[in-house]
Amino acid sequence: MISLEKVTRPIKGDIFVPGDKSISHRSIMFGALSKGTTEVTGFLESADCMATIECFKKLGVLIEHSLRPTNGVPTITVHGNGLHGLTAPDSTLYTGNSGTTTRLMSGILAAQPFDSNITGDRSIEQRPMERIIKPLSQMGADISSVMGNGCAPLHIGGGKQLHGINYRSPVASAQVKSCIILAGLYAEGDTVVYEPALSRNHTETMLSSFGADIHNQVARDGSAVAILHPGMPLHGHRVNVPGDISSAAYFIAAALVVPGSELLIRNVGINPTRAGILTVLKQMGADIELVNVNNSQEPSADILVKYSELHGNENHQFIIGGKDIPTMIDELPVVAILAATMDCDTIIKDAAELKIKESNRIDTVVSGLGKMGCSIEATDDGMLIHGGKPLKGADIDSHSDHRLAMSFAIAALTAEGTTRIIDDECVGISYPTFFRDLFSVINR
Ligand code: S3P
Repeated sequence: MISLEKVTRPIKGDIFVPGDKSISHRSIMFGALSKGTTEVTGFLESADCMATIECFKKLGVLIEHSLRPTNGVPTITVHGNGLHGLTAPDSTLYTGNSGTTTRLMSGILAAQPFDSNITGDRSIEQRPMERIIKPLSQMGADISSVMGNGCAPLHIGGGKQLHGINYRSPVASAQVKSCIILAGLYAEGDTVVYEPALSRNHTETMLSSFGADIHNQVARDGSAVAILHPGMPLHGHRVNVPGDISSAAYFIAAALVVPGSELLIRNVGINPTRAGILTVLKQMGADIELVNVNNSQEPSADILVKYSELHGNENHQFIIGGKDIPTMIDELPVVAILAATMDCDTIIKDAAELKIKESNRIDTVVSGLGKMGCSIEATDDGMLIHGGKPLKGADIDSHSDHRLAMSFAIAALTAEGTTRIIDDECVGISYPTFFRDLFSVINR
């Protein structure tokens, strides 16, 4: 349990946040399936990404941690086995709390010549896997939920020749899309995944840089398609992982709730399929500027944020929904905290996916903010926040959900009295040094 108090002294200075979680996972996965070595710098050494490393080690891939001799930068080196070089694991693959590891690995395992079993922690064993079982089965895979409840543990029978599919995903989910694409690397024929809105496209951008023939198209109505022509070998290369915008979001929010703050968050990934929070916060009146923009395949920038009074539109309302939702899905809990401080109503809609994240983030955000004195209601696909009432400190259960623990730590900075976060250690899932970094900026 950790205790936090209201902060009145402006937050000033600069900070680096750890590497992007989605890119870190994929750097190991794609490196493992490539010929040659992949050197990864900026890798996120959190529980989720370490689970991915452990899974690939079990599949016979040599992965080393070292300091680069020239400059001492921590580096992960993946000695790839090529697309067909994985070997049978001697026991169940354990993915911890990581949905990305579970779903993306399942796509890879579905195409292997050997059998495998995969599962994770209690939260993972409650999250829906039918969304990958269905398309993988359509591709000819032998994959099933061991308990028959549509969740992990999953059993995956090996030795199946997969075939490409045209799949219409009912949800904009990068995990579903990526799972199908990874299976598609081994399939006969093209694999095409349609989604109602473009979800994060790291799989497409990164696989293409490893040599795959893959691209996205986005239609006028915002719906999107990823098209993979299989058959190209993957080649290892250097990957520089930028800072995670999902982690940067807590510091952006911290600067926006403590009057007089001005914070520079350095080297953050700003891929447009992830950066919806910047657009939405600017619409709310946040003073946010991008400096030192680096327009590489995975673009990055320093984010300069200055305290601003956030506001709704002329009707004292703010609505977040539609195709913006997938571009900020993991940031919605901390956006809800900001909305609670705004003197207007905020409606978050089209976000039913929040119910099946590491916790039911509609219920957990609504109950936590309710305890802090905010007037807030859960809806079928989001929440309605009547902002503007001062928040008061409370005991908040993170429900072992890292994003909840970090979001309520930000709420604590603006709440009267003490806020205690129960089960704060879960931040190790995506940001092990979160509280150290937060205390360092607020005590500077
Ligand atoms: C992720 C995709 C998102 C996101 C998760 C990471 C990824 O999940 O919430 O934290 O790396 O592909 P969904 O694809 O289920 O929306």
